[in-house]
Amino acid sequence: MLIASHIAKRYDTARGGVPVLDDVSLQVGRGDAVAIMGPSGCGKSTLLYILGALERPSSGTVTLDGKDPFSLDDAAQAAFRNTHVGFVFQDHLLLPQLSALDNVIAPTLVASTPEPAASVRQRATTLLTQVGLADRLEHRPGELSGGERQRVAIARALIRQPALLLCDEPTGNLDRASADAVADLLADLQKAHNMMLVVVTHSAALAARFPRRYELSDRRFVDA
Ligand SMILES: Nc1ncnc2c1ncn2[C@@H]1O[C@H](COP(=O)(O)OP(=O)(O)OP(=O)(O)O)[C@@H](O)[C@H]1O
Ligand SMILES: [Mg+2]
Repeated sequence: MLIASHIAKRYDTARGGVPVLDDVSLQVGRGDAVAIMGPSGCGKSTLLYILGALERPSSGTVTLDGKDPFSLDDAAQAAFRNTHVGFVFQDHLLLPQLSALDNVIAPTLVASTPEPAASVRQRATTLLTQVGLADRLEHRPGELSGGERQRVAIARALIRQPALLLCDEPTGNLDRASADAVADLLADLQKAHNMMLVVVTHSAALAARFPRRYELSDRRFVDA
């Protein structure tokens, strides 16, 4: 279970503080899927980073399956993320010099208990097949379409079999048909892996597929 309680966030910059979130709370159980919407700049990515322990809240707490990642030192926190959280970033952030297959394998290379290379390769191949890229394993990101890169990023987020999958605009740059395909894929994978899924989206069509929807408005959550 993911529990975020009374999260507030302000970014302190040389030009002063930027308040972004104020008293945001959220609970996501195993198998739950939640969509977060809101206008550009309202703090959706910031919230996702906080839920995934990539960014520390100014106040409030996050626990995932009973553990508070922000109570850990940097190395333990990185290991916690690697083990428990899959992240599909707004800009997919694939490594340009690696093939699709090696991009999916990459998170396993820093795992504290490495898996045998052959079994990782097998799982990465299976995931890329599930996202419809069986015939693109050796392509580099620059040789893939935007939707294909997005699907590689989803496969990469799943390789460590995370309890929590966080997706930031996973269909942001896609046409309607590709966006529907990625949305179907996320729904199928979420069920198959019984994950907690939190998706940030501007797309009303994508959000409509989620049983729970929130809108960030004036730094707070309102039901959407
Ligand atoms: N590192 C940072 N330092 C200072 N301000 C920041 C930083 N990161 C984000 N912000 C500000 O915080 C606010 C929220 O940013 P965030 O990226 O969370 O928005 P968003 O809802 O994801 O927007 P979009 O839909 O455009 O992706 C924005 O006003 C942004 O300018
Ligand atoms: Mg964003």
